[in-house]
Amino acid sequence: MRVLSGIQPSGRLHIGNFFGAMRQHLQLQAEHDCFYFIADYHALTSNPSPADVARHTLDVTMDYIALGLDTEKTVFWRQSDVPEVTELTWLLSCVTPMGLLHRCTSYKEKVAQGISPNHGLFAYPVLQAADILIYKSDLVPVGADQKQHIEVTRDIAARFNNAYGEVFTLPAEHIIEQVAVVPGTDGQKMSKSYGNTIEIFEPEESVRKKIMRIVTDSTPVEEPKNPDKCNVFAFLKLVASSDELAGWENRYRNGGMGYSEAKKRLAELLIDYFKPFRQKRTELENNIDYVKEVLADGAKRAKAVARETLEKARQAVGLRK
Ligand code: ADP
Ligand code: TRP
Repeated sequence: MRVLSGIQPSGRLHIGNFFGAMRQHLQLQAEHDCFYFIADYHALTSNPSPADVARHTLDVTMDYIALGLDTEKTVFWRQSDVPEVTELTWLLSCVTPMGLLHRCTSYKEKVAQGISPNHGLFAYPVLQAADILIYKSDLVPVGADQKQHIEVTRDIAARFNNAYGEVFTLPAEHIIEQVAVVPGTDGQKMSKSYGNTIEIFEPEESVRKKIMRIVTDSTPVEEPKNPDKCNVFAFLKLVASSDELAGWENRYRNGGMGYSEAKKRLAELLIDYFKPFRQKRTELENNIDYVKEVLADGAKRAKAVARETLEKARQAVGLRK
């Protein structure tokens, strides 16, 4: 089965990105034909600085390779290295009703936040549909916030097929289950936009400091505590073994345990969890040429598939030689 997903180059990835998306991406490699790309065209809709676009693309690529991307098997590339996808976006745009895009909640939410929308932001789901369709994707693992964009993709593909014949395979509606939302150090969802993240490869000292600052309530040490309402426990669930977790749960409920004790253990567990990958991340940092080669090789493999689909779509609409 062809599995495809895009990751926006918005900086070094954090623990929420790892447990919410990346871990599933890496696990899927064992059984599927995976296509993953850095969605840099999409990132432009928020007008990042040119230096950030370039730097973040490499950072995300290095994070993926260090954490176990199978560069032989999985195709990993930079979206803009295959500009064919923008031509397909145009062909799809011409069968996409305005109303369909007006109904997209992620667009509406951004506008409600006061962002003055550009055309790229409005057309964003059509580019995403082109990503999915051009690579003949069967399954698109994404978080709940992107589910509507998969439905829009199916709708656009069906309209195109209806008008011009069976050119596209519709991706499955099924979305891979996401783990619970990972909290940030302040207890809100961990997100770059809230400044409450812990990066996967952040220096160990800084990880420790941030964990000690995780917001907890002020229940005194001797009193029982509710693990289900505790941000520290939410993190422990991600990295502690089930035996250890059961032990902590008892200690929370029995009282006599201070949050700082749980935080210290959490810092050790979290650091140990990513430790095996740190050295690889540093090696890559010192070998950017290799990182660029991985992207170039991925682009070549992705392009071959994209060209084939685009040619079919061009023929179908009448753009014949
Ligand atoms: P951010 O909110 O930091 O900008 P993105 O929106 O770029 O993160 O998220 C990239 C991927 O990581 C998405 O698939 C998203 O569902 C997942 N993700 C991001 N933050 C979290 C979180 N706190 N918990 C679980 N998954 C997350
Ligand atoms: N819009 C996705 C996000 O913000 C990224 C993305 C772009 C994507 N193209 C895609 C995801 C195609 C899945 C399939 O997370």
